[in-house]
Amino acid sequence: MAAEVVAGAFLTVSLEVLSGRIRSIMDFVRRNKVDAGLLNKLEIMLLSVKGVLNDAEKKQVSDSNVRQWLQKLNDAIHDAEDLVDEINTEALRCEIEGRQSQSSTIGVLFNQVCNLISSRLNVKDVEQRINDILNTLKYIVDQKQHLGLSEVGAQPITSFRRSCATAWVEESDIYGRDADKQAVIDFLLSDEVDGDKLSVLPIVGMGGMGKTTLAQLVYKQIDDKVVEKPFNIKAWITVSGESDVLTLTKKIYEEVANSSSSTVDEAFKLQLKLKEFLNGKKVLLVLDDVWNVDHKRWCDLKSSFESTAHGTKIIVTTRSAKVASDLGTLPKHDLQIIPEEDCWKLFKKHAFGNVEPSVDLDLEVIGRKIVQKCNGLPLAVKSLGSLLHSVQDLKDWKNVLNNDIWNLREDNILPALWLSYYYLPPYLKRCFAYCSIFPKDYKIDKKDLILWWMAQDLIQPQKIKTLEEVGEEYIEDLVSRSFFKYCSWREGLIEVDH
Ligand SMILES: Nc1ncnc2c1ncn2[C@@H]1O[C@H](COP(=O)(O)OP(=O)(O)OP(=O)(O)O)[C@@H](O)[C@H]1O
Ligand SMILES: [Mg+2]
Repeated sequence: MAAEVVAGAFLTVSLEVLSGRIRSIMDFVRRNKVDAGLLNKLEIMLLSVKGVLNDAEKKQVSDSNVRQWLQKLNDAIHDAEDLVDEINTEALRCEIEGRQSQSSTIGVLFNQVCNLISSRLNVKDVEQRINDILNTLKYIVDQKQHLGLSEVGAQPITSFRRSCATAWVEESDIYGRDADKQAVIDFLLSDEVDGDKLSVLPIVGMGGMGKTTLAQLVYKQIDDKVVEKPFNIKAWITVSGESDVLTLTKKIYEEVANSSSSTVDEAFKLQLKLKEFLNGKKVLLVLDDVWNVDHKRWCDLKSSFESTAHGTKIIVTTRSAKVASDLGTLPKHDLQIIPEEDCWKLFKKHAFGNVEPSVDLDLEVIGRKIVQKCNGLPLAVKSLGSLLHSVQDLKDWKNVLNNDIWNLREDNILPALWLSYYYLPPYLKRCFAYCSIFPKDYKIDKKDLILWWMAQDLIQPQKIKTLEEVGEEYIEDLVSRSFFKYCSWREGLIEVDH
């Protein structure tokens, strides 16, 4: 999900953190004769914008003025943060130097020494800067009315948790892809002697259409389809974004040879090593999520596969038709939307879990309309099904159906995904928003992610649980809502799914 859309949640966090820090420097500011009333005003001003952030966050998707407003607010907050940082540093310096002086000076002199040391703070300059920030914020606050921003509470749909999804796809979780699966399996099992030695099949479709899912399904099942294993070696590489030839060859080598390649630091040496390793073997390689490919890079990479046995196959998944035509030796396999009835089954599975077939008829009517709005895109259907899981109130379902986010035109984010984000409880929204700093498909150890969240004060303390335990719960919740998924190949790793 694009970083700009999650900015609102980030701002809420920044405002809270900033208010806390303003309070923490208040004593020091007073001691230095800076007008503390100005800082009080600043804090109040911040509170009055915080109230409308929920509304702004929703409206920014369809209103570029609101987006600009958020941007201005963001800049003003940065200025205030810089100033508070400077004052804080000065307070620390004073404290440290004061402590040193205290050890060598009689105690009663301590305050005087401290004041003397802190005199480096230019009172006029600080007051002027606070006034400037206040003026900017006042202008921003005044704009609230013009933009029609009002105080709206947190989203009505309550939090839920359920057991988390499994890592690698299960066939029973996949709907409407039988023909696609068969076509790809036929490709993998085809072994024409006079055909190409190395065949490349691109699977193409928009984000969330299920390219990775289909490739995973086939990758997993191909061994079950025939008595004798069709490939000597199988390797799955997530490419995602730019990869130079050395990195890519490294990834492939480490995956197929199951050993480290850290000692080899030149691409051509590693290519040779890979070539030797693959010699005479029949290989299945999946390159998942390829964004762009330099022709030379691709030729270099393919040269490592020259010595493989006849029938070696590469599947490339990509959103780009150009990548598909550059890389494919066969016409691309275009992944189409899934039929409406399959979408409904997928939605039902996530919305109702195992309670089917007793689906409430009223909910079904609304649910089917919501599914229609997803236009056959599996990721959208799954996200909204997850969003409405355990929500039995018809009113909430109608709210989702009639939400004006569906009319969103300007942005390239799918309304369904935006909706499922919008309805996250605020604490989860902030944690997820924080993940927008990672690139797409980035994999992170969940323990590390929890530490990051803790460092940013994003985890709300609960009485009888440690922050780590609460963080674990947040992760399970985000997995169950399809925002994260567990990585298939290493325990504890998660990746952002939107
Ligand atoms: N046919 C399907 N049935 C059920 N769920 C599906 C289906 N296809 C995809 N999904 C689910 O939709 C989500 C997105 O699918 P996937 O990651 O495969 O999309 P993608 O086309 O690879 O997207 P991207 O271009 O972003 O990599 C996943 O959570 C997946 O489980
Ligand atoms: Mg993918």
